[in-house]
Amino acid sequence: MKSAKPYIEEHKERFLNELLELLKIPSISADPAYKNDVVRTADVIKESLEKAGCDSVEICETPGYPIVYGEKILDPKLPTVLVYGHYDVQPPDPLDLWDSPPFEPVIKKTELHPEGAIFARGSCDDKGQMYMHVKALEYMTTTGQLPCNVKFMIEGEEEVGSESLGWFVERNQKKLANDVILISDTGMIANDIPSITTGLRGLSYVEVEVTGPNRDLHSGLYGGAVANPINVLTKMIASLHDENNHITIPGFYDEVENLSAEERAKMAEAPFSKEAYKNALDIEDVYGEAGYTTNERNSIRPTLDVNGIWGGYIGEGAKTVIASKAYAKISMRLVPDQNWERITELFQKHFTDIAPKGVRLEVKPHHGGQAYVTPIDSIGYQAASKAYEETFGKVPIPQRSGGSIPIVALFEKELKSKTILMGFGLDSDAIHSPNEHYGIWNYLKGIETIPQFYKYFTEMSQ
Ligand code: BES
Ligand code: MN
Ligand code: MN
Repeated sequence: MKSAKPYIEEHKERFLNELLELLKIPSISADPAYKNDVVRTADVIKESLEKAGCDSVEICETPGYPIVYGEKILDPKLPTVLVYGHYDVQPPDPLDLWDSPPFEPVIKKTELHPEGAIFARGSCDDKGQMYMHVKALEYMTTTGQLPCNVKFMIEGEEEVGSESLGWFVERNQKKLANDVILISDTGMIANDIPSITTGLRGLSYVEVEVTGPNRDLHSGLYGGAVANPINVLTKMIASLHDENNHITIPGFYDEVENLSAEERAKMAEAPFSKEAYKNALDIEDVYGEAGYTTNERNSIRPTLDVNGIWGGYIGEGAKTVIASKAYAKISMRLVPDQNWERITELFQKHFTDIAPKGVRLEVKPHHGGQAYVTPIDSIGYQAASKAYEETFGKVPIPQRSGGSIPIVALFEKELKSKTILMGFGLDSDAIHSPNEHYGIWNYLKGIETIPQFYKYFTEMSQ
């Protein structure tokens, strides 16, 4: 495989403009108001795959949003790479914290992206990273260098739990048969410290509703004599961590994989500056489970976080009231070998057990998924490592991430293949936050690195 650099240099304006067009469509899967935009995005992806050289591309209907499936099969005897990505994005709110509108992409230089970054919702997660694969395919087909078979499966519900994708994968095992799954939907340490993601955390997401009296009450007339749902909920939530920041739900840690001292020592070799970390977030100190480092806390350890909490009076001025209801959304990030359904049940039982008699409690499970770890001695990992070495001039560091792509564990179960996570984003790219951006350098570096993966994977598979 020749270096894609000259081709990228020649077509870079167009590569950029095509991505900008894709970023203009507000494909927000969580909000039904954007249904037409989500569906329209699938059509744009289909067209782009056709142009990039797929032999056949289809829009596969599901109970939810469509899945775009495309393939180019050279020879059934050759290895097959299955590329997965998502075309849906997170809601952009709060809008007033964006420096420019989320669906009107602009290019600006930043400290970490001196060559410019594209600011738009979905630029990094995951339109920009997914589109690198489409352009890498274009490069390989137009220059006659595609060394193996390729299949693309791009979904539109990743940000809401990938329910339809699970449905689709279970029904299409033959169609999706592959030798390795390739995903760019994660990050790396820094532009000069390449890394490959070897782990993803699992997830259990629940919503709780606490109901006290049957109506809102005057906080003077009734205050102190009935359970205030907000007081009760916050106290219950506070009790979920002990003084060492361990989670207090009985059985929560029963199945947690414990890493050996060697594995932890290996992890600690990855470059990390606590000072830079604190400065980037403008915090005085880090925080977390006693006995673990920051990198361990956000990758190999399970966590529990409140994502949203509401109830009572939040308007202007003061209103003396005891609200009848209080709510919270809670996520638990899980590690191997915790079972997310069991953890959801343990949460439900414990939260119900600790609720005082004066309130009624409802726990509604949302979505979840298993953690995933990929071995570094697989052909897929080795091929990826060589690809980075070639384009970055450095051997990439294996690194477990704290984020979740719940469908990856299901891929392994249903399709029996390993996933390689070649992510090119940075943690500071603000995915899911206002001012999400993706470095142009990263975008082009991805397009340059991906074809090398195909080459090494094909060579090493024979
Ligand atoms: N691409 C992210 C996951 C990610 C980002 C993993 C960076 C590792 C590094 C994905 O789109 C995502 O946001 N996943 C959700 C879970 C999903 C069920 C909503 C998450 O991690 O919160
Ligand atoms: Mn993503
Ligand atoms: Mn996401």
